[in-house]
Amino acid sequence: LDFEITLSQQPTPHAERERILADPGWGQHFTDHMITIRYAAGRGWYDARLEPYGPISLDPATQVFHYAQEIFEGTKAYAQPDGSVVTFRPEANAARFNRSARRMAMPEIPEELFVRSLELLVGTDRDWVPRTEGYSLYLRPFMIATTRALGVQQPSQEYLFMVIASPSGLYYPRGVRPVTVWASQEYTRAAPGGTGEAKCGGNYAASFLAQAEALRNGCDQVVWLDATEHRWVEEVGSMNLMFVYGSGPDARLLTPALTGTLLPGVTRDSLLKLAPDLGIPVEEGRIGIDQWQAACASGEITEVFGCGTAAIISPVGGVKGPGREWTIGDGEPGPVSMRLREELIGIQYGTRPDPYGWVHKI
Ligand code: COI
Repeated sequence: LDFEITLSQQPTPHAERERILADPGWGQHFTDHMITIRYAAGRGWYDARLEPYGPISLDPATQVFHYAQEIFEGTKAYAQPDGSVVTFRPEANAARFNRSARRMAMPEIPEELFVRSLELLVGTDRDWVPRTEGYSLYLRPFMIATTRALGVQQPSQEYLFMVIASPSGLYYPRGVRPVTVWASQEYTRAAPGGTGEAKCGGNYAASFLAQAEALRNGCDQVVWLDATEHRWVEEVGSMNLMFVYGSGPDARLLTPALTGTLLPGVTRDSLLKLAPDLGIPVEEGRIGIDQWQAACASGEITEVFGCGTAAIISPVGGVKGPGREWTIGDGEPGPVSMRLREELIGIQYGTRPDPYGWVHKI
């Protein structure tokens, strides 16, 4: 499938772009182009385009507006010291996108086409990749159901795949300052058999009310507990969670296993591979909210952090829940969290070796 390319006649002026890149915020500004590819049952993927960024027009009866048949991905392009630009593990995002597609009864997209879409957009809009360390060009591939029909007997027969790109600074403006988290007893993110391991928009829509509850209780983020027993820790906000036991040469990592209700994070997976190389053993297991509290009181757990593409590594400094509250370590970012963060960022920004071949030059 070849892309039909239409370049913008009115690209953002240089000075305006530089002003945005100096302080991009997060997910507020978009580059000059976007990718669109269409799909129809019986026909497959067709009409691949790179075109000027802009609104799309859809019939009000378009299926996605009513039944939320939608999936997305998040990945980033990074500027390198030599001025080139790379993406990070785009094939991992492609594979997860297709797993999400299967769960939502949507068509899979060939991995090669997914990756080529990202590369074409980043290559075209490469001047939008921020040069500031810690900043990047966030890439948002997504797919929506576009059949015009209100019936729910069958999934949409047509789909639209798109990629947009957004220069981004730090996801949390406060940087790596630890967040406090709220263990909601009322809301759950995902139930067995549900869509928890798919990256579908609905999972995020359902999280806003719990997030508001966290804010009301003076916390920054929600800790999600399992839906069945309300006990096993699953995720924090929109990130996977990692627990550091011990310190110095005895430090080890525990992260909740992918039971089907957790989002299989690319950052999570990357850290599980990198940590052992740094002499930090890793384990995928389970931890209950009571165990978490007790292990902080006894000093066994020394650090906890959330990890994801957007925020990279985000230390958790304290936990609150109905009738309880505790801090983790001294409430400051810990050495293991910061070491892992530097290692991962070093690979992404090309200042450290890339032992697993994760970065792709554009
Ligand atoms: C991530 O990259 O960690 C996310 O899932 C955040 C995104 C939904 C904004």
